[in-house]
Amino acid sequence: MLSRTFLRTSARALRSAAPRAAVPASYLHTSRNPQQDKKANPGSYARTDDSITVEYPEDHELPSSTPVTGRGGQHMKRTLASFSLEGKVGVVTGGARGLGLVMGQGMVISGANLAIVDMNKEEAEKQAAELVEVFRRENPGSARVPKVTAHYADVSDADSVQSCIEDVIREHGKIDNLVTSAGFTENYKAIDYPIDRMRKLWAVNVDGTYLFATTVAKHLMARKAPGSMVFIGSMSGAIVNVPQPQAPYNGAKAAVRHLASSLAVEWAQAGIRVNCISPGYMLTALTEKILDDNPDLKRQWTSLIPQGKMGQPVDLMGPVTFLLSDASQYVTGADLRVDGGYTVT
Ligand SMILES: NC(=O)c1ccc[n+]([C@@H]2O[C@H](COP(=O)([O-])OP(=O)(O)OC[C@H]3O[C@@H](n4cnc5c(N)ncnc54)[C@H](O)[C@@H]3O)[C@@H](O)[C@H]2O)c1
Repeated sequence: MLSRTFLRTSARALRSAAPRAAVPASYLHTSRNPQQDKKANPGSYARTDDSITVEYPEDHELPSSTPVTGRGGQHMKRTLASFSLEGKVGVVTGGARGLGLVMGQGMVISGANLAIVDMNKEEAEKQAAELVEVFRRENPGSARVPKVTAHYADVSDADSVQSCIEDVIREHGKIDNLVTSAGFTENYKAIDYPIDRMRKLWAVNVDGTYLFATTVAKHLMARKAPGSMVFIGSMSGAIVNVPQPQAPYNGAKAAVRHLASSLAVEWAQAGIRVNCISPGYMLTALTEKILDDNPDLKRQWTSLIPQGKMGQPVDLMGPVTFLLSDASQYVTGADLRVDGGYTVT
């Protein structure tokens, strides 16, 4: 399934880990005893281990994501007006679930109208209605109710992207902001990774980001309007996750990060800002399910994070709103790591 999310574990986790037996056999598969091997081989904790693979539940085995409640939308506390997205139209790809859904909700709470783009149109429609419902509940009597729409696109397909963007402009009249969250990973050792899977992974993560960004940029340039884009990379674009091998994903996320910097330079004169957010370990439906079942594994993972906990999707609401809003008007080409400090240790 293309929309599988991913899990990462690390050699440092194994260093501080409980005995191997604590890791559920259904989750990590080994053809030999890596603990014994590692004792015998100095430096081996910092390498990928071909004998370890991560099994992901299929999409239909996961519950659908739920919007965050209890955040409210009214400005009860004073804050800089420049953080507001009032009057803006935002597009979030991969917005029907997981991180994309919650970032889209953050944009709505901050005043934007929103177009949710996803391959799963049915889920996008359900969540668009839910976001408006949550907004109404948490802002009783609000004079303005945001417009939230759902749109189909396969982000890896240029024609699909073009017709999706036309559809969004028909519904909303314009686009100001873009967040590219559609993406997925798989764990294979590189020498075994089928080239068609590799191409698909790059097509969704890299081509999909590029296609959406360039098509929205053309629209902004035609309007002579400023805009702000946020690409969702990953800390995997800056560090190498171990022990499970995922070279194509890591490479794709590094490409997403540098694409953001490169387009930021190319489009700076047009008033279009492009930044990247690189999340660390985030608790989504997938990770929550697996880690709830495996508390030892959860302890191992959190022990690697200076803040001592995995991130929640809601932790991306502030960063994405900041980067899309005028509060960050002199920030472009940046990579904002939202990883609890993981990548600085
Ligand atoms: N969850 C994490 O811990 C984490 C950490 C770092 C980076 N990321 C990145 O964040 C992004 C979102 O991850 P998530 O955990 O929310 O994933 P998710 O699987 O929960 O959601 C991804 C969404 O993208 C959609 N999608 C997949 N392929 C598509 C395509 N070709 N066209 C249109 N839509 C498509 C799916 O239908 C799904 O709704 C991904 O780019 C991922 O690599 C996630």
